[in-house]
Amino acid sequence: MKTNIKPADGKLGILIPGLGAVATTMIAGVEAVKKGISQPIGSLTQMGSIRLGKRTENRFPKVKDFVPLAALNDVVFGGWDVYSDNVYEAAMKAKVLEPGLLNAVKSELEVVVPMKAAFDQHYAKNLVATNVKTGTRYEMAQEVMNDILTFKVEKGCDRIVLIWCGSTEIYYEASDIHQSLAKFEQALLDDDKRISPSMIYAYAALKLGIPFANGAPNLTVDIPAMIELAKQTETPIAGKDFKTGQTLMKTILAPGLAARSLGVKGWFSTNILGNRDGLVLDDPDNFKTKEVSKLGVLEDILRPEDNPELYGDLYHKIRIDYYPPHGDNKESWDNIDIFGWLGYKMQIKINFLCRDSILAAPIALDLALFSDLAKRAGMSGIQEWLSFYLKSPQTAEGLPPENDIFKQLIKLQNTLRHLMGEDLITHLGLDYYQELVDVL
Ligand SMILES: NC(=O)c1ccc[n+]([C@@H]2O[C@H](COP(=O)([O-])OP(=O)(O)OC[C@H]3O[C@@H](n4cnc5c(N)ncnc54)[C@H](O)[C@@H]3O)[C@@H](O)[C@H]2O)c1
Repeated sequence: MKTNIKPADGKLGILIPGLGAVATTMIAGVEAVKKGISQPIGSLTQMGSIRLGKRTENRFPKVKDFVPLAALNDVVFGGWDVYSDNVYEAAMKAKVLEPGLLNAVKSELEVVVPMKAAFDQHYAKNLVATNVKTGTRYEMAQEVMNDILTFKVEKGCDRIVLIWCGSTEIYYEASDIHQSLAKFEQALLDDDKRISPSMIYAYAALKLGIPFANGAPNLTVDIPAMIELAKQTETPIAGKDFKTGQTLMKTILAPGLAARSLGVKGWFSTNILGNRDGLVLDDPDNFKTKEVSKLGVLEDILRPEDNPELYGDLYHKIRIDYYPPHGDNKESWDNIDIFGWLGYKMQIKINFLCRDSILAAPIALDLALFSDLAKRAGMSGIQEWLSFYLKSPQTAEGLPPENDIFKQLIKLQNTLRHLMGEDLITHLGLDYYQELVDVL
């Protein structure tokens, strides 16, 4: 049965807390695509296709032609940052994209000027913030709501989504005030420091029924209070942490090794990067948040407790070092110690010279467009089908995350088929042979 999805009429505002490397690369990219001077490579919503029906039907429409997504020409950007640089200036400083490309969309980028950030230095000590709101957490949340509503009117938007592209916050765990909406709202009034800045934006968005996706590993919407609020206002949420670079490779390779019952004894992953994200992650408290997000992936895919002969001794180590000369061009090395038939040892080495924000930008775009689709389709709460894009997928309480990228893709595609009333695809395929048998 086809879901009743409201059409994507009018403008979609994508509002972004954190107009740094990822956000500016996404915005400049979308503006370049709109002008026809670039291609949105890496974006499943724009370039990907989806199989429908039986293999013999040969139906492979583009995702954007299959589900009613907002068109890029209808997208308008805005956001907040602790620095006052407009998106053109911030993109030039981030040095991800060539000045030639940025100059071609300069006028579109210059008009995106960051609103004052809801910020607390405690959560990102390495930033020297100048463009920030004052007041209590409650007041900041009210101001963010006001920012959103003003933006919506001024830009003539029909709908809004928020994508957190702000710095990784220091490591924190959910505490008592995060356990229910009532406690959270009281803590806002009390200006409780355990409410992180990203939670202020998330609260403001959800309160207004606006979808929120989290591109960083901090908890943000992954707390009971936010899940409760999302349900109450029928709003989709997704998180955490864009799956790019090394973790992307890990979730491509590890399912393959596990599929062939090859053993893994050790996986050493190291990274060097020199962008602002790297600077923030140079603080051990911020690194810890990232480390926790990256570490879970392998164990979830290989499940050492169920496969002790193959993965029981797995030693998984992750390092990230700040190395300014590399800028946004992160370099990662993986040394993987595997073993095969009769326990014979082998090694795999991966040296990925990646461009972090080039991989993250299309993810941020897809998350924004799919979150908007989810809202129009009446889906609310945790959108696990968006795990495909995320390093540390948020799931219902007690439900282990699915980190295998191939299963995540099947889940995403089947969700789209389900929404559009198409048959789900199980890949069983026995019916092709059954028909032949019936004919004979
Ligand atoms: N680039 C990737 O491949 C990748 C992958 C996964 C996750 N991420 C995460 O995405 C986020 C953005 O990455 P980036 O490379 O663009 O980093 P960045 O440092 O270039 O940009 C982050 C921006 O957020 C701003 N900021 C910090 N706190 C804020 C607040 N409270 N309100 C508003 N703005 C705030 C900073 O001033 C900065 O400009 C980081 O958390 C990063 O860990 C990035």
